[in-house]
Amino acid sequence: MSEAPKFRVLSGVLAAAIALSLTPAWAGPAADPLAPAGRWEGSAGGSASTPPMGWNSWNAFRTEVDEAKVMGAARVLVDSGLAKLGYIYVNLDDGWWLKRRSGDGRLQIRTGIFPSAATGGPDGTSFKPFTDRLHAMGLKAGIYTDIGRNACSQAYDLHSPNLPEGTTAEREVGLDGHVEQDISLYFKEWGFDYIKIDACGLADFVPGSDLVKRQDYRAMAPLIERGSINRTDIAAVKGRYEAVAAALKAARPARDYVLSICAWGMANVRSWGKDVGNLWRTSADITPSWTSMLHNFDSAAKRPLYAGPGHWNDPDILHIGHGEFDAAHPVEVRSHFSLWAMINAPLLVSYDLRNGPASFLDVLGNADVVGLNQDKAGHQGVVAYDSDDAQIIVKTLGDGQRKAVALFNRGAAPAPVTLLAKHLKLSDNAPVTLRDLWSKQSLTFTGEKAFTLAPHETLVFEATGKRQLENGVYLSEIPGAINVAIDGTRQPQLDPSIHRMIDPWSNTRSGGSRPQYAGWGGAQADTTPYGQTLQVAGQSFDSGIGVLSNSRLQVRNDAGYAQFTASVGVDDSTENTGQPLRFYVYGDGKLLAESPELAFGSKAHRLKADIRGRKVIELVVRDAKSGKAQPVVASWGDAQLTR
Ligand code: GLA
Repeated sequence: MSEAPKFRVLSGVLAAAIALSLTPAWAGPAADPLAPAGRWEGSAGGSASTPPMGWNSWNAFRTEVDEAKVMGAARVLVDSGLAKLGYIYVNLDDGWWLKRRSGDGRLQIRTGIFPSAATGGPDGTSFKPFTDRLHAMGLKAGIYTDIGRNACSQAYDLHSPNLPEGTTAEREVGLDGHVEQDISLYFKEWGFDYIKIDACGLADFVPGSDLVKRQDYRAMAPLIERGSINRTDIAAVKGRYEAVAAALKAARPARDYVLSICAWGMANVRSWGKDVGNLWRTSADITPSWTSMLHNFDSAAKRPLYAGPGHWNDPDILHIGHGEFDAAHPVEVRSHFSLWAMINAPLLVSYDLRNGPASFLDVLGNADVVGLNQDKAGHQGVVAYDSDDAQIIVKTLGDGQRKAVALFNRGAAPAPVTLLAKHLKLSDNAPVTLRDLWSKQSLTFTGEKAFTLAPHETLVFEATGKRQLENGVYLSEIPGAINVAIDGTRQPQLDPSIHRMIDPWSNTRSGGSRPQYAGWGGAQADTTPYGQTLQVAGQSFDSGIGVLSNSRLQVRNDAGYAQFTASVGVDDSTENTGQPLRFYVYGDGKLLAESPELAFGSKAHRLKADIRGRKVIELVVRDAKSGKAQPVVASWGDAQLTR
């Protein structure tokens, strides 16, 4: 077997981009990003082995937050038993700051609303008494800042009584120019455990704008242009968050922190967030409407391969308690919660816990549903049936013996939904038992079972039966054990598959709701990168991984499987039909199997690799010839690990 080239000349724009970004002038040829790393690269550091749970002040209070409100929420988390279930983070959002002190740049807290911070002395103010109290209650504390100079409230909440005060410089409360100082203050001195870092400072303080002139801010040429991925400086945005991640590691060498990136799905963060932080927002702010919930859900639901223990897609805090998720909408409340649980979203509640109805505590306190979200294996649910009307989402629990399934009616009319054993990757001819995690009733079926879902209803079951693959798992069943090291996308493309709501801020004052988040074309479980059925030369695959060429995936083999097999080839749906591919399988950096050159129309090639004793399997697809910059759609059909 010939060793695949470790260094090769990459063609066109991709090669130039990689060379520029990776090669210092003195280092010779660029390292090949497709060469196997031989070690797991899917951990960004920090401490979020399961999705963070708790409370955030924003949806309840916006900038009108204060210590009594926050402590009241903390008290309810403890007294209701929610903290015991895992709801331990109490996260301050925007509104806490007074100013950045001139002279030493030390941030000062608005003690009018956080009285315990009025510690006096040379430091002026401190959140240490506040975090001490939360810690003494068995909780953890979160704080909020911005990656630029100014925060979102300074652009969008100008009426707020709690905006930073003072000179232009004193009102620059964001991290820009103060990364080490502020991170050290928050994590070493004040004892916070979690930080959410917004990005308005990189987007909204545009030179010459009315905002900058009227508020006398220092202008910053936007690194994020909300309407244009091509005019967004992705590398610069990522670089700024990387600097924060480095400062966090230095401040908390025990890695006991959570880094939440809040760039709202912009700057291609849906692809790189996992390499830098523990969670990253995948979309705009949620509003308390059904369609906003759909939009935010969609922004994360098709990204299962990008999430896993330590790194999670974040479709935003829950909006339970408000608008179309208030107590008069119990069906919608359960759906919102069930869906967030199924896709391993953070479960951060954000209503005024002191005044909420008991019915919400019952929803949040459903230990079975929380258990899905907090399952240690960290496999995000995969969409097993997709349509604009209804979806079926299947989540593998633990090692794969148990599954959870959600049947989701997105629409306003009743929906007929037939669940197949096949959707669950369970055998057609053995009984499947479903336990309803809301009603706690069980039922058994063989082959298929028909349901009628009420408008907006989500049913959630735990499912057991005979696995299709009795002696192993399909890779698409274990997304949490996969790291998309390089996904093959060459030019960020906007994702057209996300529900296009009427924009809650601009309403219909534009030509329409446009796709806005990059990431389309990324690696997918059980479909191609563009949502098509996996198919090679007419042979279709219900299971498998769809990727673009010039990609590298990593798979953890913690369970000690002995064999990897897949049927690989150029997918029939590819637009670029002129480029043949080669597929490679590595184990701990060593080449274990490779395909011959496979052209469009070639039958799927069966790849088999002995992976006994190998911890990290890497799956690489390369363009066989240098040529068009357009990637080829590649299928790892039926990709599986077996005993
Ligand atoms: C942005 C974020 C929100 C919230 C506000 C605070 O809009 O996306 O989640 O933090 O800023 O101003």
